[in-house]
Amino acid sequence: MNIHASTITQTLAEHYDLSPNLALAEEMKDTYARMARVVSPADWAMHAPYVKAINELKAKRNAVILGHNYMTPDIYHGVSDFVGDSLQLAIKAAEVEADVIVQAGVHFMAETSKILSPDKIVLMPDMQAGCSLAESITAEGIEEMRAKYPGAPVVSYVNTTAEVKAASDICCTSSNALRIVNAMEQDTVIMTPDQYLAQNVANESHKNIVYWPGSCIVHEQFTPQDLRDYRAYNPGVRLIAHPECPPDVVAEADFSGSTSGILKYVTDEKPEKALLITECSMASNISDQLPEVEFVGPCNMCPYMRKITLENILWVLHSMENQVEVDEEIAAKARLSVQRMIDLSKKLGL
Ligand code: 13P
Ligand code: SF4
Repeated sequence: MNIHASTITQTLAEHYDLSPNLALAEEMKDTYARMARVVSPADWAMHAPYVKAINELKAKRNAVILGHNYMTPDIYHGVSDFVGDSLQLAIKAAEVEADVIVQAGVHFMAETSKILSPDKIVLMPDMQAGCSLAESITAEGIEEMRAKYPGAPVVSYVNTTAEVKAASDICCTSSNALRIVNAMEQDTVIMTPDQYLAQNVANESHKNIVYWPGSCIVHEQFTPQDLRDYRAYNPGVRLIAHPECPPDVVAEADFSGSTSGILKYVTDEKPEKALLITECSMASNISDQLPEVEFVGPCNMCPYMRKITLENILWVLHSMENQVEVDEEIAAKARLSVQRMIDLSKKLGL
């Protein structure tokens, strides 16, 4: 946002009735039913006016909202047209018919949408919603790795800037990383920028994987001892970890997968008790559709994802500010890396 938060609140109040509204909350009870286990009725009365205003404005602007699995439930269930993991959202950005995409996620996801849909307007509710992984490497870092390991292909996580994608050979996400790496012809493969995703892939791959030392500030906080303690305090609990966690953490878990992989596992298995070793909005978002599963703590939040709110989504749709731009030459090269990933994923049936 480039204007002060209080100015935004004031401007929005002049155009929309955003005061808490119990009658509207009741009118929109079907939407509320999707988050009732985790959002209180009082909070819903505050969210409902924003949800209504956003959904009306979306129709007016021919806009869609792509919501990542780590959005809060009010955004995930209230205003998102499509929800999913990074791969699903990238595929949707390429396919969706709309004039405007609002990225309810972090900046690299909005850049990916712009790269794949250059003719659409892509809006970022808060330009400061970054990612510790994306910030850990530049295009020069990729060149350093290429100089160190000549001939090795560079597989970069989508959690990277457009410049880094442009300097890479192909992208991957946590749902396809292992299969993408295994599909490379060469024996040595460079993975950037997530050292833990790379090590987790290396544990299951026959390739020699060399990697950049980046990490996710949310997932690196978990330790193997944490997981042993969670089991001790929650007998019978199923521990489900994202592959951005360190490998000794993944080793203590019952399953590891991308955010959509986690959803599929819990939906298929329906454990009595589940603890998701990942960003904590994930459990909130899926708990109403899985009433038979008890989700237990902890809550590690991504400070970048938390920057996205109903208010700043409404603001960008209202003002059309925060349009994401990617230099055309860089976008053309980055598109090749992302498109290669999408094509290979589809070929591999992912
Ligand atoms: P997914 O691709 O699993 O959704 O992960 C994205 C991300 O940023 C996880 O921290
Ligand atoms: Fe980046 Fe980690 Fe936040 Fe995902 S959870 S956006 S990897 S900092």
